Amino acid sequence: MIDLRNIPSAKEELDRYEVEHNFHSWSYQPAQSPPRVVSAKGVRFTTEDGRERLDFSSCFISHNIGHQDQRVVDAICQQAQSLTSFAPSMSTKPRALLTKMLAEITPGDLSRSFISLGGTEANEAAIKICHQFTGRRKMITRFRTYHGGTATSMSLSVGDSRSWAQVLGGTDMVRVPQPYCYRCSFGLTYPACELQCVKYIDEVIELEGGGEKVAGIIFEPVTGANGIIVPPPEYFPELRKICDRWGVLMIADEVMSGFGRTGRWFAMDHWNVVPDIMTMAKGMTCGYLPLGATIVRKHIGDRFKEQFFSHGATYAGHALCCATALALIPIYEEDNLIENSELMGRYLLDKAMELKDKHPCVGDVRGLGLFVGLELVKNQKTKEPLTPLDAKIRPGLNPKLEVAQKLGELGMMAMAANPVNVIAMAPPLIVTKDEIDEGVAIMDQALNVADVYAS
Ligand SMILES: Cc1ncc(COP(=O)(O)O)c(C=O)c1O
Repeated sequence: MIDLRNIPSAKEELDRYEVEHNFHSWSYQPAQSPPRVVSAKGVRFTTEDGRERLDFSSCFISHNIGHQDQRVVDAICQQAQSLTSFAPSMSTKPRALLTKMLAEITPGDLSRSFISLGGTEANEAAIKICHQFTGRRKMITRFRTYHGGTATSMSLSVGDSRSWAQVLGGTDMVRVPQPYCYRCSFGLTYPACELQCVKYIDEVIELEGGGEKVAGIIFEPVTGANGIIVPPPEYFPELRKICDRWGVLMIADEVMSGFGRTGRWFAMDHWNVVPDIMTMAKGMTCGYLPLGATIVRKHIGDRFKEQFFSHGATYAGHALCCATALALIPIYEEDNLIENSELMGRYLLDKAMELKDKHPCVGDVRGLGLFVGLELVKNQKTKEPLTPLDAKIRPGLNPKLEVAQKLGELGMMAMAANPVNVIAMAPPLIVTKDEIDEGVAIMDQALNVADVYAS
């Protein structure tokens, strides 16, 4: 065995370890190591070759406050000096304070949280709470969504090609379409459609056994990895009424859309609708340390004073991670990041709209806050997709990934590895107008690569 304190670490060796010893997420395992990131600050990151690039993906929509904020780094060091973690059966000050803080910033009477380590875990807890509270098994989920990588959360991620390669399970799934107006599943146009997509959910609940059988519906308020899908304004208020009628719980997965990303604390705040359960992660600790949470309304939380809560984890409420969130969450308000997301989001959306006029490969541009997507097509009129739905799980480059590669060469990372033909621009919420101009100019150049495939 090699000396464990002195593992050879020259560039070539690190490259080899990446290729031979590491599993890379959601991909064929690469023949070459990806560029190695050595530092990051604000909206930019630097690779080993000294090259600086713009981070317009906020590292999969997690680094909302930007990279290496000293206030958060200091808070982590300070907590680490006294207590990194302890058994979750005991109380720690960071966990107690964080659960109170989450009750303050989330809408309505959402008030009792289970603190986990990421978005997938937060959704697993949400589904279990939903089943335990209602005593029912069926869970409605929407096509074109991603709720996480484990068996249950991946089962809920229908229409995402990443779920096709996996053995699924965990809950009885019922699938319904998204409010995806650009490609309406009912062939209708908003507002003349009178929200057929919501009415259909009402019918599905009835056909699936209504209040006796259907436990809940899980959704991303603004769908992220599957295409930045923003619902029409009436969608969630109408869905709330339907769920109330059947006693079906609404689970809002705010893992991507939460923490200012859409220009509000949480995306559901846009429609003044309080879900029964909300999940969050990413922007909660912005990747400084991992953390997730599942928060429920008061009457749901109170039930578990009499009913056994059948869920848990060794690192639930990890003190160091909770202290990170405690130091970080107030920064959203102190630095006006949520207002900046709304303001800069409008600017980014306007600039992105201009790209549609210039590039035949851009079929649609949509977004809310600093969460803006460009849907790529072969033809703007026919809306023929640039790549088929299974392109993500096929080997080799495809036209969308060629755009992503070009973006990298030109000096920017966007959210382009999604399973669909949408490239998202979602910079940290500290972004300025100048940085948006810089990012959009890079995108403008990179899109030329896809124009070759469009007519
Ligand atoms: C909406 C949504 N839910 C859940 C998850 C899973 O979160 P994590 O990767 O932290 O497990 C993601 C991850 O991208 C997500 O976008």
